[in-house]
Amino acid sequence: MQGISKKRWGRWVVALSFGFAAGAALADDAIPESNPYSGDEKAMREGKSWYRGVCAACHGGRADGAGERGNGADLRKFELGFKGFVHVVLEGRQQPGRTMAMPAWKGVLKNDDIYKIGAYLETMAIEGANWKEGNRH
Ligand code: HEC
Repeated sequence: MQGISKKRWGRWVVALSFGFAAGAALADDAIPESNPYSGDEKAMREGKSWYRGVCAACHGGRADGAGERGNGADLRKFELGFKGFVHVVLEGRQQPGRTMAMPAWKGVLKNDDIYKIGAYLETMAIEGANWKEGNRH
């Protein structure tokens, strides 16, 4: 009896860890741990013009969420870290009960351009924000 349940449990653990590993490998798709463009003036200027062009309508010219199309999130307080940022921008996000969703930019923006936007947005961060650390999703 004991032998059987132990075996079952073992199978579970293998299945689970395989699942996690596969998921992580897909999700992270070579996104670096930290933003390669942090502090890079030229990249931040490019990021700013991308931001103005494609994000500001919802997130506001000052990234405070007060865009003319309403209530995109306040990005000055973003706290999911660099990878979290890239994931949200690539995949988009829709929360139950919210009328407006964050569109997915995969296939629209290159990862590089997303990193540049991130480098620009870092300069807008206010206290308590986390644009740096990797792994909080
Ligand atoms: C059509 C409007 C719209 C556009 C355009 C848009 N967003 Fe968003 N974004 C949203 C909304 C709405 C949310 C909040 C989603 C939710 O409910 O979680 C959001 C959420 C986010 C978040 C998560 C914020 C947090 O604190 O978790 C990030 C990061 C973000 N947007 C970045 C961007 C960037 C970068 C661009 C431009 C490439 C962009 N967004 C363009 C509407 C938009």
